[in-house]
Amino acid sequence: MRFSGSTLNCISCHQNNGTKQFGLPWMGVSQTYPQYRGREDKVAGIEERINGCFTRSLNGKMMAVESNEMKAMVAYIYWLSKDKPKDVYGLLTPKFEGPNRKADIKKGEEVYNGFCMSCHGVNGDGYQSMSTGGSGSHVAPALWGANSYNNGAGMNRLLTNASFVHSNMPLGTVWNHPAVTNEDTYDVAAYLSSKERPRMNGLEKDYPKLEKKAVDCPYPPYADKFSQEQHQYGPFQPIMDAQKK
Ligand code: HEC
Ligand code: HEC
Repeated sequence: MRFSGSTLNCISCHQNNGTKQFGLPWMGVSQTYPQYRGREDKVAGIEERINGCFTRSLNGKMMAVESNEMKAMVAYIYWLSKDKPKDVYGLLTPKFEGPNRKADIKKGEEVYNGFCMSCHGVNGDGYQSMSTGGSGSHVAPALWGANSYNNGAGMNRLLTNASFVHSNMPLGTVWNHPAVTNEDTYDVAAYLSSKERPRMNGLEKDYPKLEKKAVDCPYPPYADKFSQEQHQYGPFQPIMDAQKK
């Protein structure tokens, strides 16, 4: 049975098998669970977090918590984490400081063509390895379209995406030597966000406490009066300022 609905796999995003600083690493993550998450408004274990990535980032199905595959993933992450301090430096991705304006999709397309298309392809579908019959192994993973992450994935939020891209893309980039400027990253993230991708059902139930909803969550409902479009493409500063009040 295949659990992934896309041509992505975990390490399409969790760079270097989950060992890269600010490349969504897993080293030191085990200690931080169970953890409260606003999207579900509850404290949950790492299995539930992994299933979040299965159903959204991989556009796939939930995996039973008791299954051997789930246990193997939890064990791998634990093995990477076990000798690390509780608050290890470099988890997730760095906070991204974007410009205080609406992102420019047209400009983002130019950035994509210049910096990303050579690997991720004209149609954003990436390239699959022929040797595995396209069974999930990629040379470069899909950034949009039927084979990519769905609209409920963290990667589909502009600031989350920009923060990942700024510190990790083009392939080989490290967080303290970004290759693409903040402005260009902001716009290319908007370009990716503007593209069609699989749609997840039930997203209106995310964030039971709406006031905890991430400012860049591109799907409604919202606790504030800002438009869906502004939540998708910015400017985000006015939304953040309103939240602080
Ligand atoms: C499309 C990119 C993508 C893919 C593919 C993906 N993830 Fe994630 N994952 C993320 C992002 C982005 C976050 C954190 C941001 C957030 O909170 O939404 C995350 C968070 C996590 C976390 C929590 C990390 C932490 O520091 O708390 C774990 C564990 C995890 N993913 C495991 C997995 C596993 C296992 C798979 C494969 C079954 C997977 N992910 C596939 C993007 C991805
Ligand atoms: C040299 C080839 C190359 C270039 C250029 C490149 N990427 Fe990637 N990208 C990859 C590979 C390969 C992965 C999968 C991660 C891995 O194998 O370590 C990836 C993963 C990603 C992911 C997470 C997985 C997914 O499918 O969503 C995003 C988002 C992404 N790239 C965006 C970009 C953007 C935006 C640019 C341009 C600024 C870019 N990449 C340039 C090769 C490249």
